Amino acid sequence: MKAKLLLINGLYLCLIWLPVIFLLPLQEVDIWNDNVDPKELLIERNSSQRLPRVLNFFPVPFVEECKSNDGRRRGICMNTYECRIQEGKSHGFCALGFGVCCVFTTTCSQEIFNNLTYFVNPNYPDWTTGMSSCQAKIKKTDPDIAQMRFDFIHFNLGQPNRTTGICEEDVFLLKSRNREFQLCGLNNGQHVYFDMEDSEELELTMTLSKKVVTRFWEIIVTQIPFIERTPPGCLQFFTGTTGVVQTMNFADNGRHLANQDYNICIRQEEGYCSIAYEPCHENAFRIAPNNEMDVYEEGSGDGDDLDSRSIDICNDKIVLPCDSDELIMPGFMDALPGSCSLEHCGLSLCPTNSERCRIESTATPFNIAVHFGPTLGHVSPDDNLGMCLQYEQQPCEY
Ligand SMILES: *[C@@H]1O[C@H](CO)[C@@H](O)[C@H](O)[C@H]1NC(C)=O
Ligand SMILES: *[C@@H]1O[C@H](CO)[C@@H](O)[C@H](O)[C@H]1NC(C)=O
Ligand SMILES: *[C@@H]1O[C@H](CO)[C@@H](O)[C@H](O)[C@H]1NC(C)=O
Repeated sequence: MKAKLLLINGLYLCLIWLPVIFLLPLQEVDIWNDNVDPKELLIERNSSQRLPRVLNFFPVPFVEECKSNDGRRRGICMNTYECRIQEGKSHGFCALGFGVCCVFTTTCSQEIFNNLTYFVNPNYPDWTTGMSSCQAKIKKTDPDIAQMRFDFIHFNLGQPNRTTGICEEDVFLLKSRNREFQLCGLNNGQHVYFDMEDSEELELTMTLSKKVVTRFWEIIVTQIPFIERTPPGCLQFFTGTTGVVQTMNFADNGRHLANQDYNICIRQEEGYCSIAYEPCHENAFRIAPNNEMDVYEEGSGDGDDLDSRSIDICNDKIVLPCDSDELIMPGFMDALPGSCSLEHCGLSLCPTNSERCRIESTATPFNIAVHFGPTLGHVSPDDNLGMCLQYEQQPCEY
């Protein structure tokens, strides 16, 4: 008992006196600061921020996300020494001054080996011009990493071929041993998950061959441990009772990309049983049908009269789960106005004559499938803007 008390007393004494002991020499020479920009040193040395630096070689007791002192960036709270070893930059203090908020930034030809790493264009925050390619390797921080999440704070690359929607000149490509994903165009605010499976690392390649284009990107790469992974097969995962989902390169003068086949998943929140979708605005659903087909329906007259009319065939389509499965007629858009149609393409999410376009579904999980194949035939790019939907989960009725 006495020994324990003594130990605690000793610890307290240590904590109180250590700063004082170390403060004097450290003011003049910072042993960890051999090759630091003198300007940075001046800022950090200024007045009130001096004391916590003294403790910079004590381990920070927990790994935690933090905000940089300007509030703009996300970082990891660790001690100064570790932050420097891992090639991060300290942006203010965290953990009651025991650690610094360490922000990791990389650019082309570098490796990404920390959680929450910002991958930016070489001239960031200015535009980059005249560069032809950019590569980076992403390494798992831990064998337990199941997915990588990419948050495109800024993603401004050249547009796809306007006729075909194929990313021909500018391409952002993620590649693991057995998986690939590509993008181009304007994708600010979008995110994607990439399943790592048994791959140890991921290659990120940007081919930048479109002429006379200025590019700009800022992408956060987050390493997701197995226990925090999102459901399988979800390229995008949204949480919250309301939100906006849109297809890639949904932008003015943009067009949806060809060869995109993925699910947008929305987490069903507790106490919510259904979901309603509405287009973000009048032109927020434009996925031109690729084909037409004649169908024959029983006429209103007597006997075996058959009326013929042509309907759209959706090769490129959005699939929303629906409730009443006896009315589902895949591929036969608008065949039964007012009914729930599983596949959507054309210039309106809803059957064309509906006043307010709103689609509700209790089918769970709340997933939206995007199937964009190669472009067939001739369609105007303006009719292929893609989709932007607002969703709102509806509380359960008990
Ligand atoms: C340090 O603080 C002083 C006054 O508190 C200020 O005038 C000076 O500009 C600061 N230096 C830096 C590098 O921020
Ligand atoms: C777009 O693709 C079409 C069809 O492959 C091709 O004829 C056209 O030259 C391409 N446009 C540009 C700008 O590369
Ligand atoms: C990476 O950071 C995210 C966000 O703070 C966190 O949820 C995740 O657990 C971290 N990954 C690892 C491997 O620590």
